[in-house]
Amino acid sequence: MMLEVKDLVIRFHDRIGGEAVHGVSFSMAAGERLGIVGESGAGKTLTALAITRLLREDNAELLGSIRFMGHDMLNTSGKEMRKIRGKEIGFIFQDPVASLNPLMPVGPQIEEPLLLHTDLSKAEREERVLQAIRDVDLPEPEVTIRKYPHQLSGGQCQRVMIASALICHPSLLIADEPTTALDVTVQTQILKLLKRKNEEENVGILYISHDLSLVRRLCTRVIVMYNGNIVETGDVEQIFTHPKEEYTQRLIAAIPTRSKRYV
Ligand SMILES: Nc1ncnc2c1ncn2[C@@H]1O[C@H](COP(=O)(O)OP(=O)(O)OP(=O)(O)O)[C@@H](O)[C@H]1O
Ligand SMILES: [Mg+2]
Repeated sequence: MMLEVKDLVIRFHDRIGGEAVHGVSFSMAAGERLGIVGESGAGKTLTALAITRLLREDNAELLGSIRFMGHDMLNTSGKEMRKIRGKEIGFIFQDPVASLNPLMPVGPQIEEPLLLHTDLSKAEREERVLQAIRDVDLPEPEVTIRKYPHQLSGGQCQRVMIASALICHPSLLIADEPTTALDVTVQTQILKLLKRKNEEENVGILYISHDLSLVRRLCTRVIVMYNGNIVETGDVEQIFTHPKEEYTQRLIAAIPTRSKRYV
């Protein structure tokens, strides 16, 4: 298994009740497309942040174990984690515009992981950036690298994020609500792009969304979370058509019929 999360508990020192994730266990094979669904507050983002150790550790306590490609993630030093993040694990988030630096052209932002994790020459890095831009179907690479985020659409910014997240060929891409801020057509394009990247480069995708119909379009397997626990997990078609748990049935019932028809 590429990723194994076992009995993950996340506790906050400053929160009444303290615990937000109550012992979550799941695993993910190399090259798999796995979804996490659940309504707001279920603990989806916290689980993703725990895997990348991006929670503020003076405030959050992590118990259990997370193994990723031979690394014991909860006992890995900060320095070691910085080597893993951006290189072995890429991530993209809900709001691509807010995730990008508004004061910097997108080219250098896509290049950043190469500066951190490789010793490629300037010319080699530039070639890789142009290639990455082509790979995510952005127009005119030589022009695009010089543009600032505000000169691109939301969907184009998300493509920039994907290009940057994948530029070091990570084994795992964590995508937390990556299409929520985008309109339906662009949403579909981004899902297709993620699927193609998964098939071409065998990058495993952990796709987080509150919308099971989106997860169904991309993933083969899904984890349903509610209130800091996993309530159901299995094949996405199976769960979509025959949900066992009442909570999952309610999630499916809440999907607007229109988007149900899209799938
Ligand atoms: N830094 C924090 N300090 C205290 N509590 C937190 C912190 N971050 C998250 N929580 C709490 O943990 C719970 C799970 O949060 P999380 O962000 O993982 O939810 P989510 O499933 O990603 O929801 P959404 O769909 O809204 O993104 C929530 O109740 C939230 O209030
Ligand atoms: Mg979230």
